[in-house]
Amino acid sequence: MPLIHWTPDFSVGVNSLDTDHKVLISLINQLDDAIRAGEPSATISKVLDALLDYTDYHFAREEQLMRACGYPEIDAHLRTHHTLRAQVHDIRERYRRNAESMHGREVLAFLKNWLTAHIVGRDKLYSPFMQGAAQKVQEADRAFGAISEAPLSVAAGG
Ligand SMILES: [Fe+2]
Repeated sequence: MPLIHWTPDFSVGVNSLDTDHKVLISLINQLDDAIRAGEPSATISKVLDALLDYTDYHFAREEQLMRACGYPEIDAHLRTHHTLRAQVHDIRERYRRNAESMHGREVLAFLKNWLTAHIVGRDKLYSPFMQGAAQKVQEADRAFGAISEAPLSVAAGG
């Protein structure tokens, strides 16, 4: 059973951002599976790398769309992203230095809370602003998609 289930309660009303959140949830679930199955540390490292990469990608998109709709609380949100990114980075580095020192359950509890509290607690606040400027948001989303490579293959492993 997956650690986190995406439910419509998580929706921020913008398809691309909901999709990103689903990918992040899937990566955290993959990490949970890998730790439970006692996978080798190389596999766990790979999932952590994918999680960090996708977090960067998703935050960049979200930041672009918040700018496009003139979200007034953008600065506070950017600070949150900065902290969240640093926390995941720190987990990955600690794991690289000493895989034994990482307590899987604690890390997963942290990531689960990290993601659900961020989406429900923070991301939802921009939702009405994005919906009120749907046209601009869509254009910014298309522009973002055009300049970035779609990294959806991260979830496929390989
Ligand atoms: Fe988000």
